[in-house]
Amino acid sequence: ISIRLDKEEIHLKEHDHYMLKEIMEQPQAIQRTLDKRLTKDGVRLPEVDAFLQAHDLSSFKKIVIVGSGTSYHSGIIGKKVLEQLLDLPVEVAISSEFSCEHGILDKHTLVIVISQSGETADTLSALKEAQEYGCPTIAITNNPRRNIARKADCSIFTHAGPELAVAATKAYTTHITALLLLAIVLTQKTEGPGRRQLPEFIEALRQLPEDVEKSLIMTQDAIDQFAQVTNDQGHLFLIGRGLDYVLALEGALKLQEVAYLHADAYASGEMKHGTMALITPGVPVIALATQEALREKAVSNIREIKARDAFVVGVTTIGDDAVAEIVDEVLYIPQAHPFIMPIIAAIPLQLLAYYAGTVRGYNVDRPRNLAKSLTVE
Ligand code: AGP
Repeated sequence: ISIRLDKEEIHLKEHDHYMLKEIMEQPQAIQRTLDKRLTKDGVRLPEVDAFLQAHDLSSFKKIVIVGSGTSYHSGIIGKKVLEQLLDLPVEVAISSEFSCEHGILDKHTLVIVISQSGETADTLSALKEAQEYGCPTIAITNNPRRNIARKADCSIFTHAGPELAVAATKAYTTHITALLLLAIVLTQKTEGPGRRQLPEFIEALRQLPEDVEKSLIMTQDAIDQFAQVTNDQGHLFLIGRGLDYVLALEGALKLQEVAYLHADAYASGEMKHGTMALITPGVPVIALATQEALREKAVSNIREIKARDAFVVGVTTIGDDAVAEIVDEVLYIPQAHPFIMPIIAAIPLQLLAYYAGTVRGYNVDRPRNLAKSLTVE
């Protein structure tokens, strides 16, 4: 398999994997999610327009986003963006927990289900339960002919192309891209305060495929060195604030499922409330500091960790010296709109998991105990 990236050809050796191929093709996958939807006049989602013909947007009192694993993580990103743009409360539920934690459901609750495979039994059950309560439902999926797409009232197809590795990579970034498109379309149809944010946000979305390609190029080599460090340690921590905390959750899942590392994600500000007791000299900590507005607090939390002699790798944006000066290794990524950063910053975490698993000799496409589509609850 050879992947053309930035005019060089990256030859994946014969034992290289679908996971790396799918990580590397995210600029193209995201572009396919955007094609015909992100136009020079803004964003259009005909499938959502048709849905809103039957379900009046002003009648919704809350949104509930449901997914499992990586799809759940993409949903949390969607929650934070939708809440900032729309004057609506947004909840997120793990599919298998939906029955226990969904709160009030009725025809005024818009339920968005996210599933790459479109077959995850937990998510399908949540969809059916939501519909039993009369909730209008939208599916975001990479498989439009599967059960979840067919049963939802509306289905937004990510066009990511087949994802064969068990670890979801381009599914995560295209799910978020689809959620951002949906958030823009819903905001365009309301008179809420979020409309003022749209022009800058839409421009950032237009730039996204190129920013993801830059992120791939910037972190590919650096990651290989850090993957060696994780090879010696049985466990590591990922920390972040706000959207960076959600990213830490996704990075931890990747390292768990592909490199079998005990990786834990924590909100940076929470470490001092207990977890700091686990920080020993040399323990690897990946500190995500990509959110401009939270940078100062992120730096302060990193200092707390460094004071305990942890080995800290900072993931931050080009030119951010404040983080680079206090960490042991720094992975730079392009600076972009805050809503876009969780996609760009996912790249180093995906590549780290890939290399850490490969360095440890594991089959990163087919990790032990896991399946690509979980059609049983
Ligand atoms: C993520 O890397 C895993 N493969 C897993 O958590 C996956 O995201 C989850 O099982 C949901 O799958 P779906 O998107 O096909 O519903």
